[in-house]
Amino acid sequence: MTPFRIPFCFFLFFVTVASGCGGQREADGKIVDAPVKDYIRAIPGEDEDVPEEIIHRGEVLVAYTNCYECHRRDSRAKGPAFADIAKRYPRRQVYIDLLARKIISGGTGSWGYPVMLPHPQVSFEDAQAMATYVLSTDKH
Ligand code: HEC
Repeated sequence: MTPFRIPFCFFLFFVTVASGCGGQREADGKIVDAPVKDYIRAIPGEDEDVPEEIIHRGEVLVAYTNCYECHRRDSRAKGPAFADIAKRYPRRQVYIDLLARKIISGGTGSWGYPVMLPHPQVSFEDAQAMATYVLSTDKH
């Protein structure tokens, strides 16, 4: 047993170091590429009319929740600009519901690597209003 152990540890060490370095370089490359590549892939679809009060309610809720810690209306911060989110998703019920669920559960991967923290305290109805407001920021 013992005679094999030391060489095997060295072997493992080299494999770990070698693959660790390779992975690092790849990850760095991706972080540099990700924001530019496919930043907005607009989903085709017509906007639906929504009542002005819901948009306004969403705007107020967004202002009183922590959204602006990571988002700006017209420019990227930690999270994508609300206007860019509005360019990607048509303002339709199905996308409003999808984004409302994402606001509550948080997540990553749609816009790159950063993570949106979950907002479990937000009700689904309020999250829908916020999503409706976000999807209206390229029209108002
Ligand atoms: C901790 C930072 C952070 C906070 C706070 C935050 N977001 Fe986000 N948000 C992000 C990030 C990062 C993304 C991109 C996630 C991704 O790539 O999937 C995102 C994505 C989104 C999206 C698009 C989701 C998608 O799948 O395209 C919406 C809509 C959104 N945020 C709304 C909100 C609202 C409304 C609030 C306030 C309740 C909020 N965010 C608070 C960081 C944050």
